[in-house]
Amino acid sequence: MSARVLSAKDPGARREAGQLLRSGGIVAFPTETVYGLGANAFDPEAVARVFAVKARPSLDPLIVHLADASDADRVARADDPRVARLAARFWPGPLTLVLPRRPGVPDIVTAGLDTVAIRVPDHEDALALLREAGTPLAAPSANPFGYVSPTTARHVADLLGDSVDLVLDGGPCRVGVESTVLSLVGPAVILRPGGVSRERLERELGTPLAVTGSAERPRAPGQLLRHYATRTPLRILDGPAAVLPPPGGRVGLLAFRAAPGGSGWAVVEVLAPDGRATTAAARLFAALRRLDAAGLDAILAEPCDEGGLGLAIMDRLRRCAARSGEPPQPLP
Ligand code: TXA
Ligand code: MG
Repeated sequence: MSARVLSAKDPGARREAGQLLRSGGIVAFPTETVYGLGANAFDPEAVARVFAVKARPSLDPLIVHLADASDADRVARADDPRVARLAARFWPGPLTLVLPRRPGVPDIVTAGLDTVAIRVPDHEDALALLREAGTPLAAPSANPFGYVSPTTARHVADLLGDSVDLVLDGGPCRVGVESTVLSLVGPAVILRPGGVSRERLERELGTPLAVTGSAERPRAPGQLLRHYATRTPLRILDGPAAVLPPPGGRVGLLAFRAAPGGSGWAVVEVLAPDGRATTAAARLFAALRRLDAAGLDAILAEPCDEGGLGLAIMDRLRRCAARSGEPPQPLP
C-alpha cells in the first residue's frame, strides 16, 4: 500500500504528525540534509519500529533531533565548551555532535553506547514538527538500510510505503547529503563527512581534524561500508570521463560539471553545471536514483575535488561503489 503523504506546511498535518509521534507512531519528515524517519526518542518501542521498517541493524545508533540547542541537556552531557561554540556557529544546521549520554535515553537509540548523537536541523518544517511533538525525535535517514538516502517525499513514499504512519512533504532537501558527524568524546574527530565541511569545523575549533571511519577503514558503528548503494554496479573513474563510453552494454555517467562529447552514453547526469560542490551535493542522491532506475548495466562516476562538501560527496560515492550491484535488504 502507498504511504500517506501530506504537506508539511498544512497545520492540520503537523498537528496529526505531532499526535502520532506522542502516541508511538513513526513519521517521515524533511530536513535540510535528507528526509528522516522520526520516532519519540524516549519511546523504545516506537524507535524499534524505525529499526524494523528500515531493516537497520540494531548496532547502528540513531541521531536525536532537537528543536533547540537548549534541549541538548535532556539527552546529553553538553557542558563541554566546544558544544556551546559549535552550536552557536552551526545550529540549526547539518552538524551532529556525539556526546556522553544521559541515562534516560533508551539503549535502542544509542545501540547501547554511552554516547548519544544530537543535532538541531535547519529546516522550518522539521523544527515545527519537533515543537509540535514536544519531544526530541530519534531519526535515521528514511531509506531502507544500505540504500541511497531520500531527498524528496516521493523517494520516501516509494521506498517505505505504508510501513510509516505519515510522510510530511516539505519539498526537495537543500543540502542533499547527511550531516557531518563529529565526536566530542575526547579530541574532536569526524566520524562521517557531511553538510558542514571539515575546513569550517577546523576554523571554528582552531585545530586540524582527522576523519575516521572512511569507506576504506570503517571504525565507528554506522560507518558500515554497505551504505548509499545503488543496485546497479557503480565505479568511480580516475578523472573526467573520456569522450566515449567504454564499449558494451548500457552505461550511464554521473558527470560532475559537464556532459562529455560522444553519444554512446545511455544516460548522463550532470551534477553541478556551476561547478560548485554544494550544488552537486544537493543533487547527488536524486541523480543516483535516476541512474539506478534507468535499467543500466553499469554506472560510471566522475570524481570531484575533496575540498568543502566534495569530501562528503566522494565518501558517499566510495561507499556506493564498494557495495553497489547487490540487492537491497528485504523489508520486513
Ligand atoms: O543528516 C542527517 O544526519 C540525517 C537527517 C535525517 O538528520 N540523518 C542521518 O541518520 O543520516 P543516519 O541514521 O542515516 O546516520 C546516523 C549516523 C550513523 O553513521 C551512526 O552510526 C552515527 O550517525 N551515530 C549515531 N549515534 C552515534 C554515536 N553515539 N556514536 C557514533 N556514531 C553515531
Ligand atoms: Mg542513513
